[in-house]
Amino acid sequence: MSVPIISPSILAADFANLQSEVEMLNNSAADWIHIDIMDGRFVPNISFGLPVTKAINEHARKPLDVHLMIESPENYVEAFKEVGAEILTVHYEACNHLHRNIQQIKALGCKAGVALNPHTPVELLKDIIQEIDLVCMMSVNPGFGGQRFIQQTYSKVKCLKELISEKDSSAIIEIDGGVNHDNAPSLLQAGADVLVAGSFVFNSKDPIDTISNLKNV
Ligand code: DX5
Ligand code: ZN
Repeated sequence: MSVPIISPSILAADFANLQSEVEMLNNSAADWIHIDIMDGRFVPNISFGLPVTKAINEHARKPLDVHLMIESPENYVEAFKEVGAEILTVHYEACNHLHRNIQQIKALGCKAGVALNPHTPVELLKDIIQEIDLVCMMSVNPGFGGQRFIQQTYSKVKCLKELISEKDSSAIIEIDGGVNHDNAPSLLQAGADVLVAGSFVFNSKDPIDTISNLKNV
C-alpha cells in the first residue's frame, strides 16, 4: 500500500470564492485538482466549462485532473488542454472510438484517463488497458457531488488491479465519488492509487487538515 495521490474535486468548492479555494489547495497536501465537467447530456447535470477551468488554472500550482462527463469528448479535449488540463479523462460509455480518443489525448501531451460508470464491467478494458495512463473508477453514478459510495467498487478495483498486472499496464487507479476517511483505507488496500474527494474535503471544518489526513490514512 503506497501513499495515495489526493485529487480534491473543486465541484464542492465555494464557486463565489474560487481563487481562495484554489489557493487553499495550493497550500495543502493535495497532489492534483479534480475538475468535473458536466454537459447536461451524458450526465443529468451541468457544472462549468472552459472559462472556469482557465480561471482555476491561472491560480493553481497543481496539475489539473480534468474529468469530462460529456458526449463527443473528442471535440473538446484540445480546448481543455489549452486551458491547463494535464490529465484528461473521458468516459468509456461516451466514446465510440476509445482507442482513437486516447491517442488524441496523448498526442496533446496529456495523460489519458478512462472513466468507468458503476455498471460498466472492468473486463471491457482488456484490449485497451495498455494504452491507458489512468482508470477513473466511478464509485457513484456521475453527475452530482455528495452521493453515497457504492460498495461494489471494492471488488471492481481488485479486478482492475489484476487486469493491469496481467496485461503489464502502467495504468493507475483513481476512485471518484463518496470517498471519505472511512472507505479510503479499504480502497487503498484493494489497489487504488488516486483518491478524489469533493464534499468530504470542502464541507469539512478544516479542509487542509482533511486533505492531509486522507493522504496519511
Ligand atoms: C461525480 C464527480 C465527482 C464528485 C465527487 O459526478 O465526478 O468527482 O465531484 O464528489 P464527492 O466526493 O462529494 O462524491
Ligand atoms: Zn469526477
